[in-house]
Amino acid sequence: MTKPVVSLREITAETVRAICELEPHQAQSGFVAPNAVSIAQAHFNPAAVFRAIYADEMPVGFIMWRPDDDGASCFLWRFMIDGRHQGEGYGREAITLWLESLPPQGYKLARLSYVPGGAGPHGFYLARGFLDTGETRANGEKLMELAL
Ligand SMILES: CC(C)(COP(=O)(O)OP(=O)(O)OC[C@H]1O[C@@H](n2cnc3c(N)ncnc32)[C@H](O)[C@@H]1OP(=O)(O)O)[C@@H](O)C(=O)NCCC(=O)NCCS
Repeated sequence: MTKPVVSLREITAETVRAICELEPHQAQSGFVAPNAVSIAQAHFNPAAVFRAIYADEMPVGFIMWRPDDDGASCFLWRFMIDGRHQGEGYGREAITLWLESLPPQGYKLARLSYVPGGAGPHGFYLARGFLDTGETRANGEKLMELAL
């Protein structure tokens, strides 16, 4: 069987409900906000960009980012693959697509923060080339970055 093609697609009135129903495994719920909350927050942050992650024609996840104030770096604000679709390589493909889209827009650095914890995404991001900055945000999240 051929590997599904992963794409980042705009969310529409027709697809928004399906995207809001995507959720990580219950044990991962502390690592990322529900997609409906992220989409609502994006409406109050005009610089935020969000996309659904598709594997072929099937919605499997959600990604949202925003430019930092310096204009040179971009912050990965939300990223998730539905629990039923994890472990298929979709997360890796999706973040690769996102990272590849940044230099043509002038970004030199990708940044993110994560909730530390056993089943958390730290190892996933390390394997994608992100490095710990050593900084911790007031909410306890740790910062990572990747020079593009
Ligand atoms: C992190 C997440 C997006 C990964 O998505 P995924 O589609 O399951 O990941 P993939 O199948 O593409 O995995 C790619 C590789 O990363 C590894 N990997 C996946 N999750 C990992 C984790 N939490 N820690 C370490 N490695 C991980 C896989 O084993 C795979 O390794 P390989 O390249 O050796 O085969 C997904 O687990 C998720 O949605 N987690 C809950 C929400 C979350 O934590 N989001 C991040 C908010 S900052």
